[in-house]
Amino acid sequence: MTDPKTPSPAHDITPADAESGISKGLTNYGDRGFSLFLRKAFIKGAGYTDSALQRPVIGIANTGSSYNPCHGNAPQLIEAVKRGVMLAGGLPMDFPTISVHESFSAPTSMYLRNLMSMDTEEMIRAQPMDAVVLIGGCDKTVPAQLMGAASAGIPAIQLITGSMLTGSHRSERVGACTDCRRYWGKFRAEEIDAEEIADVNNQLVASVGTCSVMGTASTMACIAEALGMTVPGGASPPAVTADRIRIAEQTGTEAVRMARERLTIDKILTPAAFENAMRVLLAIGGSTNGIVHLAAIAGRMGYDIDLKALDRMGRDTPVLLDLKPSGDHYMEDFHHAGGMATLLRELKPLLNLDALTVTGRTLGEEIDRAGPGFAQDVVRPRSNPIYPQGGIAVLQGNLAPGGAIIKQSAAHPRLMEHEGRAVVFENAADLAHRIDSDDLDVTADDILVLKNIGPKGAPGMPEAGYIPIPRKLARAGVKDIVRISDGRMSGTAFGTIVLHVTPESAVGGPLAHVHNGDRITLSVARRELTLQVSDEELARRARLHPVTEPTAERGYRKLFLTTVNQADQGVDFDFLRCATERGTIPGPRE
Ligand code: FES
Repeated sequence: MTDPKTPSPAHDITPADAESGISKGLTNYGDRGFSLFLRKAFIKGAGYTDSALQRPVIGIANTGSSYNPCHGNAPQLIEAVKRGVMLAGGLPMDFPTISVHESFSAPTSMYLRNLMSMDTEEMIRAQPMDAVVLIGGCDKTVPAQLMGAASAGIPAIQLITGSMLTGSHRSERVGACTDCRRYWGKFRAEEIDAEEIADVNNQLVASVGTCSVMGTASTMACIAEALGMTVPGGASPPAVTADRIRIAEQTGTEAVRMARERLTIDKILTPAAFENAMRVLLAIGGSTNGIVHLAAIAGRMGYDIDLKALDRMGRDTPVLLDLKPSGDHYMEDFHHAGGMATLLRELKPLLNLDALTVTGRTLGEEIDRAGPGFAQDVVRPRSNPIYPQGGIAVLQGNLAPGGAIIKQSAAHPRLMEHEGRAVVFENAADLAHRIDSDDLDVTADDILVLKNIGPKGAPGMPEAGYIPIPRKLARAGVKDIVRISDGRMSGTAFGTIVLHVTPESAVGGPLAHVHNGDRITLSVARRELTLQVSDEELARRARLHPVTEPTAERGYRKLFLTTVNQADQGVDFDFLRCATERGTIPGPRE
């Protein structure tokens, strides 16, 4: 049956048509009228009418995958987004992209983040859509989507899949993945047996959804909302709740309005928005991965994140959110406490309130619309913080000329001012081979150094910076020891752990030339990381043992090793960065 009210304009494209809707971005056959005629013929094969095809088209990036239980609610979210789009008069079109789950990505999810961002960017560019809804949640997916959407440049809105529920082990509340590490540590120390660790394994992930603590997924959800890229309240509802489904419907509706108003992503991802995200990262005790991802997203807009300025911001941005691993609660508690509105209300004096959000209103307006706060114990007032400074401190020194970071809110206070003897592991394989040996020459006062787990070293900068306590020390009751590497750490981990040492050892950074027995000084108070070895001696070692950078013969690995940049640049590919340099964030007024 034909659609009598709206005859097909198949061969008649006005300039306005070419910029929007189903006519956008036509496949090139050399005849634009024919291209549209053909496109419409094919899509009508799926039963669409001309009336439907004249609506604003809202793409929905579907990252549902059997390999990604963190996105296990994707079908319900897509249904709700489509409802929201259609209620607002748009045409929803979902499409698949790469989906990346932490535990199902070899060698690391970080290795694949840039590939996912390229997929997201190119499919947004290639397919006709006036706005895009990005459904992401698991650690690398949200940054990959924001990076890709930032480069694609059309109106974009992030929909978070939401956190998992918590489980219970022998009446103790548990959730991935801080408790995964805690219980595994007990098993390694032989405090619990194989039967109990198997029981724990059944309880850690109680439903679909992302990790329930302030890991990277929760961090990026909060950052996405702080950036203004989600609808208000979009960060915190757990995956299996009605609130999450309502957020999805609302996201679809907002996407249509954004398409009509041409509210492009460059109007949202401004320096003011990135500053807000940096404040929030510090105040939530967020994952150290958050700074890498923020640097990558900012790079897609032509900005550099100034790590020293981030550290200065941290001095007057206390950790307010009482979530594991820095505190005690889980994401569903944060949601019950009002979610990001509660946190943003408390941070209001430190935020750029005029930053625009996807709703077309400013962050300040959205905070006011959320109404007054109420009694709760998850978000602390600034007068009574969890930790008096921001969660992340930036270290400098001859061991890390390009900087390194430490999650001070999850570190042991006694070890934050420490000098010790280096116990060096050359790479992850060396670590695995020797860390549990009873012959390992190590004491609790030593500093474990792991090389070659940076962006190029592993490659993909694995979350191997959480070096396990050597078994002989764990058995003796040692719970923490200073650890240093050029790798990353899961946001769910804790300990006195220095990460992201830049430049990495695989490209010849000073870390490559640390020897067993060298003295290293860590002073978080002075923001210092010093190798007690002279410049002359380091230069001599570099001459004697020059570093050969890793290479690959072909494929994505070759692209990765040839073009990946360092941690302070977000571990993005150099050719994906915005070609127009727009300066540093925060800008000169900071
Ligand atoms: Fe997906 Fe933790 S594994 S969020």
